[in-house]
Amino acid sequence: MVLMRRHWPPAPARLKALLFALCLLPLASIVWRLLLGHQTNPVEFLTRETGWWTLTMLMVTLAVTPLRRLSGWNAVIRLRRMLGLFAFFYVSLHFLTYLWLDQMFDPFTIAHDVVKRPFITVGFAAFAMLVPLALTSTDGWMRRLRRRWGQLHRLVYPIAIAGVVHFWWLVKADIREPALFAAVLGLLLGVRLHWRWRRWRQSVAGPV
Ligand code: HEM
Repeated sequence: MVLMRRHWPPAPARLKALLFALCLLPLASIVWRLLLGHQTNPVEFLTRETGWWTLTMLMVTLAVTPLRRLSGWNAVIRLRRMLGLFAFFYVSLHFLTYLWLDQMFDPFTIAHDVVKRPFITVGFAAFAMLVPLALTSTDGWMRRLRRRWGQLHRLVYPIAIAGVVHFWWLVKADIREPALFAAVLGLLLGVRLHWRWRRWRQSVAGPV
C-alpha cells in the first residue's frame, strides 16, 4: 500500500515514456504480423489496422479531459498532446498505405475515389483537418495563437465524428464495431455538452 502511494500517480516524465512505448505497441504488432506473412491481403490488413488505431487514438485523446475532471488527476492533461500526435502518426501511415500501396500514387484514381466514394471523401476531410492540428501542436504555436489555438483545436470534434462516419460507411454488413465507436464518441461528446449546459445555466442564474 505504502509502495502504491509512493509510486502512484507516476511522475509525468515516467508516465510519458511509458505511454510513448505503449502507443508504439500497435505498430510493432502490425509489423510483426506482416513479417510472419500470414496475411492473405497485406495492403488491406495494413489499411484496416492503421485506420482502427487512428480512431482508437482519437477516442483516447478525447477521453483525457473527462478523466481529468472526473478523477481530479490534473497531470494527465500533459499526456493529451502525445496521444493526439500518435493519432496523427497512425492516420499518416493509413493515408500513405492508401496513396502508395493501394493507389500507386495515381492522381486520377485518387481524385476519382475522393469524389465518387463518400467514405473516402469523409476520411480525406478528417485527415485534412488533422494536419493543422498536428502542425500547431507545439508550445510556440500555442503561444502565438493564444485563444485561437483552443478554437482551432476544437476541430478534433468534427474529426472524430468524420472518423466514425468514415468507418460506418465503409463496413458492408456488420456495423457492431463502428456502432461501438459511435457510442463511445457520443458519451465523450455528451459529457462535454452536459458540462457546457451546466456552466451556461449557472451563468444565467448568476451569483446567489
Ligand atoms: C481521421 C481520419 C481517418 C480515420 C479515423 C480512419 C479510420 C478508419 C477505420 C477505423 C477503418 C476501418 C478499420 C477496420 O476495418 O477495422 C478505415 C479503413 C479505411 N480507410 Fe480510413 N480513416 C481515416 C482517414 C482515411 C483517409 C484519408 C483515407 C484515404 C483517402 C482512408 C481510406 C481508408 C480505406 C481505403 C479503408 C479500407 C476500406 C476497406 O477495407 O474496404 N481513411 N479507416
